[in-house]
Amino acid sequence: MQNIQSYIENNKDRFLSELIDLLKIPSISADSAYKKDTIKTAEVVMSSLKKAGCDTVELCETDGYPIIYAEKIIDKNLPTVLVYGHYDVQPPDPVELWDSPPFEPVIKPTELHPEGAIFARGACDDKGQMYMHVKAMEFMTTQDQLPCNVKFMIEGEEEVGSVNLSKYVKENQEKLSNDVILISDTGMIAKDTPSITTGLRGLSYVEVEVTGPNRDLHSGLYGGAVANPINVLTKMIASLHDENNHITIPGFYDNVEELSKDERAQMAKAPFSLENYKKALDIDAVYGEEGYTTNERNSIRPTLDVNGIWGGYIGEGAKTVIASKAYAKISMRLVPNQDWQNITNLFKKHFESIAPKGVKVKVNPHHGGQGYVTPIDSIGYQAASKAYEDTFGKTPIPQRSGGSIPIVSLFEEELKSKTILMGFGLDSDAIHSPNEHFGVWNYLKGIETIPGFYKHFVELSK
Ligand code: BES
Ligand code: MN
Ligand code: MN
Repeated sequence: MQNIQSYIENNKDRFLSELIDLLKIPSISADSAYKKDTIKTAEVVMSSLKKAGCDTVELCETDGYPIIYAEKIIDKNLPTVLVYGHYDVQPPDPVELWDSPPFEPVIKPTELHPEGAIFARGACDDKGQMYMHVKAMEFMTTQDQLPCNVKFMIEGEEEVGSVNLSKYVKENQEKLSNDVILISDTGMIAKDTPSITTGLRGLSYVEVEVTGPNRDLHSGLYGGAVANPINVLTKMIASLHDENNHITIPGFYDNVEELSKDERAQMAKAPFSLENYKKALDIDAVYGEEGYTTNERNSIRPTLDVNGIWGGYIGEGAKTVIASKAYAKISMRLVPNQDWQNITNLFKKHFESIAPKGVKVKVNPHHGGQGYVTPIDSIGYQAASKAYEDTFGKTPIPQRSGGSIPIVSLFEEELKSKTILMGFGLDSDAIHSPNEHFGVWNYLKGIETIPGFYKHFVELSK
């Protein structure tokens, strides 16, 4: 029987090469051109779970991409941990900004990762972090150190809204029953500052369309005499924030959870350097809602951002034209107690109401989900905290994240259990951006820390 450190030492090359093989398959759920690859990825995940010692491994068909379910039940009287992750990735665009092709993984040193980082789309989000759990499972089963039951549920549609997973969870409550849900799909503060994510923001995502005249027009012959949809759309969007960067949609803040002074003071203790933050992004100032710090703005406060805007002529040279239509994609990040469907309705009502005469406005809701917060006095949180103490020699800091994993609140609703977010990524990993990477150190540290969670969870559950 080996301990986890020597097991990693003896197997780390294989742990890396297996992950690299997984990263080579472009499982882009948003783009149907990659359907075969995405299904192939599901099959690879399935066989990796079999090899890791799961007894039952299933490929569950859905109306979209398959869900991989696997389990190892050693004793019905012992606790059950449900691991969730996703094998789909974001599109790599713009591909020309990558230093190496997104689906040809390479290990290169960086300033933060002198020992090397794996560069590939999905390296951190979430193939790399999901695969840490597969390897931790392999360690526990082969080295006779699995202390409880485990279920795995790995989906292929997280990056496109988890619609089919929602259905699957609602229809399989019994099968998915568990004592705690464990996810690695978030980040931590720094390599020497472990943290556990205690909150995720909700999301409402909409697309808007502004239509002016029934066709594109000559901007000289008609300019100044009809509403220009692009002018109108940008003005409407600009009006969604006031001079203090508060969102102007009536009712938007009605249910926002206000943190106590004490909670905010607690948050402010997390190490953070505004100078480094600005330097890393090459900006001369931060920007955001009046009255809140940077860390508050990107975690406990709701936001509204344009994610894309288009219309008119964007080819080479100039074309004098007034476009018939203008479009934008808008995301709103939400905080606990804001209901995403209610916010979507408020947005729609408000956006339609501010349209000037001369244009037609359409608001098409995309997807969304609720935010999530988890207490730090649960057995699950305490077990995770002890696991980090064992491998980092430090107590992790609880931290609310600004990102979203909408399925987590549905897990709580349907499966009645808490989720523990043990993320090992860093903000600098560039998830969703060109040159996404994941530190080799972080990957191996994750594999090292995860078995401790199981051990402590079982001990604390007694
Ligand atoms: N893993 C991310 C979410 C995340 C990353 C949370 C880092 C906290 C820290 C996830 O894959 C993701 O990208 N979620 C989307 C939402 C989804 C509905 C497309 C997001 O947050 O934009
Ligand atoms: Mn993810
Ligand atoms: Mn993502």
